[in-house]
Amino acid sequence: MRNITCIEDLRQLARRKVPRAFFDYAEAGSYAQETLRANRAHLERIKLRQRVLVDVDERDTSTTIVGEKVSLPLALGSVAMTGLKHGNGEILACRAAHAAGTQFTLSTMSICSIEDVASAVGKPFWFQLYVMRDRGFVRSLIERAAAANCSALVLTVDLPLLAQRHCDVKNGLSVPPAMKMKNLINMASKPGWVFSVLSGKRWTFGNLAGHVKGMEGVKSLAQWTSTQFDPTLSWKDVEWIRSIWPRKLIIKGILDIDDAKLAAKTGASAIVVSNHGGRQLDGAPSSITMLPKIADAVGADIEVMFDGGIRSGQDMMRALALGARSCLIGRAYIFGLGAGGQAGVAIAIDILKKELDVTMALCGVKSIKEIDHGVIAQV
Ligand code: GLV
Repeated sequence: MRNITCIEDLRQLARRKVPRAFFDYAEAGSYAQETLRANRAHLERIKLRQRVLVDVDERDTSTTIVGEKVSLPLALGSVAMTGLKHGNGEILACRAAHAAGTQFTLSTMSICSIEDVASAVGKPFWFQLYVMRDRGFVRSLIERAAAANCSALVLTVDLPLLAQRHCDVKNGLSVPPAMKMKNLINMASKPGWVFSVLSGKRWTFGNLAGHVKGMEGVKSLAQWTSTQFDPTLSWKDVEWIRSIWPRKLIIKGILDIDDAKLAAKTGASAIVVSNHGGRQLDGAPSSITMLPKIADAVGADIEVMFDGGIRSGQDMMRALALGARSCLIGRAYIFGLGAGGQAGVAIAIDILKKELDVTMALCGVKSIKEIDHGVIAQV
């Protein structure tokens, strides 16, 4: 992986290496992808304030996220089916995150199970929870995450049902991949991927298979969500989850001031301002436009995290300046994983960290706690 200098390079490499259905799945937004595009466009229109003749020799990107020490204000967010972008993808991404001094979130809809990841990595990771109608199963997932020593539970609240991503329908996305001629031809041109996934030995939803009756017949996230996800999910359920989960709770998928205020009252440790990477409500505002309003509304009542279009350290700077304490990435590390497994994820994190470090210097700040509205240019 020589000559990789930015996240876009990883994206292009991943596009060549990962079968189309799985690459498209990660990259796409819902419906007309208006919100997906707005996430990026609105980050780019925020201009940073260039400062000069400030001593910026000693810089430090380290901080904490929900009390955990991290080497940069960034953690890897949950992405479904990560183990089908690269064999054992969840384990590899978690190892890369830990080696870089940050955290990894394992999706409920992962390929490697909670137990697979726990036995392969040395340190606690975070677990992302989707709430299904079968509350007994939800309870058992929470108990499994607790038994695996997960240090935080990331409750996703913006997916009571799955919004359509047109490409998944058109590509016939399924898990494991359907052995149709079109897919076979596409996979045959990706030998590295075939090797990694076959040697990974896992190609179904690891947290569900063997734990849920009838799971054997479930082939897609869309199918599973439409039958099993609970659209009655409400704030009462957040209370219930808080009562059975012993550690930090992060509520992910807040995009509204009133919802943010309600979340701050739950006793959760953090919220993630997010529109699910433009994959759910198409037509919703970009995450970055809502971030400052939400951060102002909750003040110090709850830690504010951000996700939605981060592709550079400059983007991280923008989010931190507008009220986030830290950021999550999804696609940015998934591109790294598809491009080069664990090393690719490590490169993605390293690129973002170096870009943030240089951006801090050029904005005249030396530590994360110094970053505020003052680094935004008034243009
Ligand atoms: C699931 O979380 C998805 O966005 O596909």
